[in-house]
Amino acid sequence: MPAPGITFPADPLHPRRPDPHFAWEARKLRELGGEPYLLDHDALLAGEAEEAVRLVPRDCGPLWYRGWMIPSADYAALARTLSDRGANLLTSAPAYASAHELPGWYGVFEGATPPSVWIPLAPAAGRPGPEQLAAAVARLGGHGPAIVKDYVKSRKDDWDEACYIPELADPAAVGRVVARFVDLQGDFLAGGVVLRRFEEFARIDGTAVDGTIGGTAIGGTAIGGTAIGGAHGPGGGEPAGGTAAARRSDGNGGGVDGAGANGRAVEARVWWLDGEPVLVGPHPDAPEQSVEPDLTEVRPLVRALGCRFVTTDLASRADGSGWRVVEVGDGQVSGLPRGIDVTGLLSALLTA
Ligand SMILES: Nc1ncnc2c1ncn2[C@@H]1O[C@H](COP(=O)(O)OP(=O)(O)O)[C@@H](O)[C@H]1O
Ligand SMILES: [Mg+2]
Repeated sequence: MPAPGITFPADPLHPRRPDPHFAWEARKLRELGGEPYLLDHDALLAGEAEEAVRLVPRDCGPLWYRGWMIPSADYAALARTLSDRGANLLTSAPAYASAHELPGWYGVFEGATPPSVWIPLAPAAGRPGPEQLAAAVARLGGHGPAIVKDYVKSRKDDWDEACYIPELADPAAVGRVVARFVDLQGDFLAGGVVLRRFEEFARIDGTAVDGTIGGTAIGGTAIGGTAIGGAHGPGGGEPAGGTAAARRSDGNGGGVDGAGANGRAVEARVWWLDGEPVLVGPHPDAPEQSVEPDLTEVRPLVRALGCRFVTTDLASRADGSGWRVVEVGDGQVSGLPRGIDVTGLLSALLTA
């Protein structure tokens, strides 16, 4: 079998070049003897998969996708269209959906990740009703702080308004935060609304969520409330609403302005290929952090999930009692921290 190629999004301004956000990965791939191909991201999201892959050579064999997050339905269309051209994505459409959407991976990771419930919502269905929310809250235990997100993303940069619920037993607060989240996600809401119990993780500024000093310093560097890097590259921020181009996301999330204030956790991102960790680094939101997660508990879960190429974002419990899985992602659409050496990761993908 030939070595897999990798598709990267084309630069919308220079369609024969990789998008500047991914250009360094494509360059590195070429240095390693791999073949980067170009894909038109906007055409793919517009439902024109044929057009999107027109620069991918026919019969090029096994392929990885590397690029912006795409909805699972668009990934499925991409997989079908490529297969018709003699190119096979090494992550199948069902495997992509399993790793990309919380309900797809939650069952396998239950116990190792904060308890979570979800309310499926049809696109443009509006906000969930009070009875639906009350039932979801009851399933989550009925009280305590929580986090809101959809099947794929949170609005962590709108923390107080649209992400953090201080108390589940307060239906007005639950309704307000969920409504704001749903409204801000608009047409881009993925799958439905997820509620997760809030857990205390070690924080970037070394403080607990109530502002007291606590938590284990990971790697020792206290960075305080300073913006770390801020928004980085076109995928750094995630503007609300707008065009497909304005919604590009590589799973990085935004900059971390006010990370101390909103209690953002220190996270390690572990990249797994066929059940083996091929890259362990900081989360791209805080690329300066040094992290050494214990993978003992996570490894068998990743293997049980059975997806070939995934990431797990891990946070250390504030009391130092172990690592928790904050989220799982498809490795093809997970963001890399700036400056990290991707030789090992890309080499592994080339020999997969
Ligand atoms: N259950 C939770 N308990 C505590 N903090 C959480 C929890 N879920 C998310 N967070 C915090 O919110 C951030 C965003 O949540 P995450 O699930 O990673 O969404 P996103 O897909 O937007 O990155 C995380 O990086 C973490 O700091
Ligand atoms: Mg995250």
